[in-house]
Amino acid sequence: MPPAKIPLAGVIGSPIAHSKSPQVHGHWLATYGIPGFYIPMDVAPQDLRTVLKTLPKAGFVGVNVTIPNKEAALAIADLITDRATLIGAANTLIFREDGKIHADNTDGYGFLENLRAGAPLWQPANGPAAVLGAGGAARAVIASLLEAGVPEIYLTNRTKIRAEKLKDDFGNRVTVVDWAQAGYMLENANLVVNTTSLGMVGKPPLEVPLEGLPQTATVTDLVYTPLKTRLLDVAAQKGCVTVDGLGMLLHQAVPGFERWFGTRPTVDAATRDAVLR
Ligand SMILES: NC(=O)c1ccc[n+]([C@@H]2O[C@H](COP(=O)([O-])OP(=O)(O)OC[C@H]3O[C@@H](n4cnc5c(N)ncnc54)[C@H](OP(=O)(O)O)[C@@H]3O)[C@@H](O)[C@H]2O)c1
Repeated sequence: MPPAKIPLAGVIGSPIAHSKSPQVHGHWLATYGIPGFYIPMDVAPQDLRTVLKTLPKAGFVGVNVTIPNKEAALAIADLITDRATLIGAANTLIFREDGKIHADNTDGYGFLENLRAGAPLWQPANGPAAVLGAGGAARAVIASLLEAGVPEIYLTNRTKIRAEKLKDDFGNRVTVVDWAQAGYMLENANLVVNTTSLGMVGKPPLEVPLEGLPQTATVTDLVYTPLKTRLLDVAAQKGCVTVDGLGMLLHQAVPGFERWFGTRPTVDAATRDAVLR
């Protein structure tokens, strides 16, 4: 017997062809034998409201939203989780049966789950974190680190005013460091996180001096193309525990898949392979 309703979900952005989310969700749908579909949709910001109001009528149970629609989606949603409000952007929308759109942000959750899986001995309370970058991803990373109990965050960004805005929003546990001094802020770090796009294929390299990076630091990079960035390479040579950024992409997808399709998926080697294929 075919199912009464085939649940549909997808990812909305522009451009969207590069998104790996269809591979992640497609892999889980096949693995768990769920008769649903997950579709990439190129939607311009001015069309977002119309599309989000229409999709539930076509059988969609929810969507992921990505650049440039993450902030706009928050404004369209009827209900917003605390963490999405704190981050100021949504990446996961649930279309409820009562017609309301529920917005969540799972980026910080995905970041922490990936870090805990890749560096099980990292203890948030054991020392400061050094965060490079103050864009949208940095907001999610900082929110999750503070909630996890990191005592202090050193934050640096090329455009200092963006880092200062994050300090204003997140409070005194965040200390802003000049971009030119970024190498020094690594010296006391228990955790180092690159949230800039530097080091990504097609972008300039991350040229922050890494001489001061202590062997005791755990080092992670949100960039996952390439998987082994220069930051992770140098850190591994120093003996640091390193965690690549692909796992964040996989873990942030878990809550949405569970809400839409009713099964909590496992992030494992097969999930990574599905994306790397
Ligand atoms: N692994 C995952 O699941 C995951 C999730 C989210 C994001 N990411 C990755 O994280 C990165 C940042 O994403 P985002 O959404 O935060 O982007 P964003 O809001 O555009 O922020 C970009 C960040 O990179 C910095 N930057 C860009 N070019 C630079 C340059 N030439 N020199 C110095 N700094 C530079 C920006 O500094 P300024 O403020 O000075 O411009 C800003 O801090 C991207 O590579 C994205 O793919 C990965």
